[in-house]
Amino acid sequence: MIVAEKIIILDFGSQTTQLIARRVRELGVFSEIWPPDTPAEKLMAEQPKGIILSGGPSSVYAQDAPHPDAKILRLGVPVLGICYGLQLMAFLQEGKVDPSDTREFGRTELQIVEKIPLFAELAERQTVWMSHGDRLLALPKGFRAVGISDGSPFAAIENSEKKQYGVQFHPEVSHTEHGTKILENFVRKICACKAEWDAASFVEQSMDKIRKTVGDGQVVCGLSGGVDSSVTALLLHKAIGDRLHCVLVDNALLRQGEREQVEYLFRDQFGLDLRVADARDRFLRELEGVADPEQKRKIIGRVFIEVFEEVAKSIGKVDFLAQGTLYPDLIESRSAKGNPSAVIKSHHNVGGLPEKMNLALIEPLKELFKDEVRAVGQQLGLNEELVKRHPFPGPGLAVRIIGDVTAERLELLRKADHIFIEELRKADWYDKSSQALAVLLPVRSVGVMGDERTYEQVIALRSVDSYDWMTADFTRFPWDLLGRVSSRIINEVRGINRVVYDISSKPPATVEWE
Ligand code: XMP
Repeated sequence: MIVAEKIIILDFGSQTTQLIARRVRELGVFSEIWPPDTPAEKLMAEQPKGIILSGGPSSVYAQDAPHPDAKILRLGVPVLGICYGLQLMAFLQEGKVDPSDTREFGRTELQIVEKIPLFAELAERQTVWMSHGDRLLALPKGFRAVGISDGSPFAAIENSEKKQYGVQFHPEVSHTEHGTKILENFVRKICACKAEWDAASFVEQSMDKIRKTVGDGQVVCGLSGGVDSSVTALLLHKAIGDRLHCVLVDNALLRQGEREQVEYLFRDQFGLDLRVADARDRFLRELEGVADPEQKRKIIGRVFIEVFEEVAKSIGKVDFLAQGTLYPDLIESRSAKGNPSAVIKSHHNVGGLPEKMNLALIEPLKELFKDEVRAVGQQLGLNEELVKRHPFPGPGLAVRIIGDVTAERLELLRKADHIFIEELRKADWYDKSSQALAVLLPVRSVGVMGDERTYEQVIALRSVDSYDWMTADFTRFPWDLLGRVSSRIINEVRGINRVVYDISSKPPATVEWE
């Protein structure tokens, strides 16, 4: 089945634009985020069932404020404007927006004064989340007010003839009590979308696409054992069978048992053509004496490409390189202002590979959010433990060893990390943390063991709760759990005599220590 129904979201720069897209997809309707000034003709070529104008930090009057192609308001396609989106609808249709100095921010009571389809099945009063400076002063032509709040006489507006709706609050955030219901009313009742978007339909649809793209070509795919590359590989394997060739580069920076697990699962269980390059010595040699984090990343990226290329050559003629790029990666790299975290650390991807090897790229997950990738993984038969695995950086344990990376220090870190994760799983805390890790610090401290004075190394434990990795808070583990992890590491990992827990948030700290 091909999913034909689509909602297009025009992104005016709000931090919650991705949330809108996710909420719509959770309702079973496919949605995509597009640049704010996409020409109306281009939008119509996609035949969207509805358009959502996102919020944004600008003022509609500002010189550089992003505006949509005004024609989209004359197409007859239902439009929902959220916050700045509502103000745009007004601004472009003879309404008046007040560029005020004060803000309406936080939880606010919305009073629904007119029970329109957008508010079907909702009570007269409810809590909504507001975050705006400018506000609507006069209604756009042909509109009427259907919701009010203390700060906004036009908190919700509509023109049912044109099927245009505006809300000053944010239905996509969880603080808006019935926000999901409002979005559901929009996509179901107003745009008349059916619920057809789910993991099973995605798998079916993308197998079709993969077969069309690849034809009778051969595909190579880097398999790390993380969720994204695992799902990419399985999807391709299901679509083109043994014309998919996977490569696992053992860079000496993997976690305990990781290489063996990948070999067992993908080669033995799923029957994939998996080639493992044991490049441990090569990576360690290249990393010798390198303490600077960015330099480590660059070396690891370069050597990875070299090794990968060598293995790929042994396969014979290859036409495509498969990558597990996700939707947020694409949106962020497309965004005008850029993703600030992208410039803080040079993230290690296999960038540069396709050009160098003269391969075409195939990215079957590029429309998906992380939780959708997990659902697709389960649909393809991956076990829950793998699909729920925390993210692990490309440069691996190298960026969790502060200072020089050596085989001995890697071994210490690997053991400590394994104990930490094992205890989290046992205590049912693994899934509650977004990412948990151990870091080996470049300090020694004094301790006692038995009658002896020790002078050994320190492990820092780090765990964060995060929604989007731009911000993160440290996980509030029970003390007993941290105590158990600490005493196991000190007892079982020779060379460690002290364990500390990192209680910093991001920002100003980052998730990784390097
Ligand atoms: P930071 O440390 O930037 O981490 O707060 C945010 C998320 O990004 C991951 N991370 C990386 N991933 N290559 C990667 O593939 C890298 O160099 C890298 N540095 C950080 C980190 O694990 C976390 O999930």
